[in-house]
Amino acid sequence: MNIILLGPPGAGKGTQASRLEDERGMVQLSTGDMLRAAVKAGTPVGLKAKAVMEAGELVSDEIVSGIIGESLDGLGEKGAIFDGYPRTAAQADSLDTILADRGRTLDHVIELVVDEDALVERITGRFTCANCGEGYHDTFKQPKVAGKCDQCGGTEFKRRPDDNEETVRTRMAEYRAKTAPILPIYEARGLVKRVDGMADIAEVTAAIEAILDGK
Ligand code: AP5
Ligand code: MG
Ligand code: ZN
Repeated sequence: MNIILLGPPGAGKGTQASRLEDERGMVQLSTGDMLRAAVKAGTPVGLKAKAVMEAGELVSDEIVSGIIGESLDGLGEKGAIFDGYPRTAAQADSLDTILADRGRTLDHVIELVVDEDALVERITGRFTCANCGEGYHDTFKQPKVAGKCDQCGGTEFKRRPDDNEETVRTRMAEYRAKTAPILPIYEARGLVKRVDGMADIAEVTAAIEAILDGK
């Protein structure tokens, strides 16, 4: 099974994808995570992407479709959860080809429906464990023991450079202008399912799992 999680910045795509990985043995393919890794490693892709990401704009379609194709090749039989991809009509087109070339089909496009006003708070309060990447939030999901990661016991945490209010506004504008318009493409194919992304994290997961189980 291959699915797309679609929604604006802070909708919970990454949060839900990692829960589905744990519970379903599917693999999260987050272009944002891959690009951040490339920036950190200083690869040619990372050098191109760094300033664009810090401004909250979109990296070129060629770059992201290239890295998605490569990462699918390493998946074997496992299902993919596309997180943050596709983001433009051109990327949606490329994904069709990328999947067809590998004998895969797209099963669901799950839209996380959220209230934009709440997203700025979600994003500016977000941080992750520097060691294992587990995600936290100042208000919604603090570590059980302050300053210590629940998963690995790490004590260093980091925040994304694009998680400031100004950049978040640009990211949202990019979503409205370029990403939301791809929904009708998938609606026409009967693939879109909507989930209330403002519910509790566990409730959102349950709603997605009901869709995957065909309930
Ligand atoms: P990317 O990394 O994809 O960022 P994004 O789309 O802006 O989304 P986020 O990761 O910010 O949000 P999320 O939906 O994953 O939310 P999360 O689960 O963390 O992209 C970054 C940049 O890379 C782009 O701006 C662009 O430059 C580039 N890029 C990436 N892909 C690209 C592509 N395909 N094409 C071109 N450029 C690309 O949740 C947010 C917070 O809220 C967390 O703290 C979480 O704990 C909390 N939370 C989650 N769910 C809930 C809930 N139900 N209730 C309460 N709190 C919740
Ligand atoms: Mg994310
Ligand atoms: Zn950790």
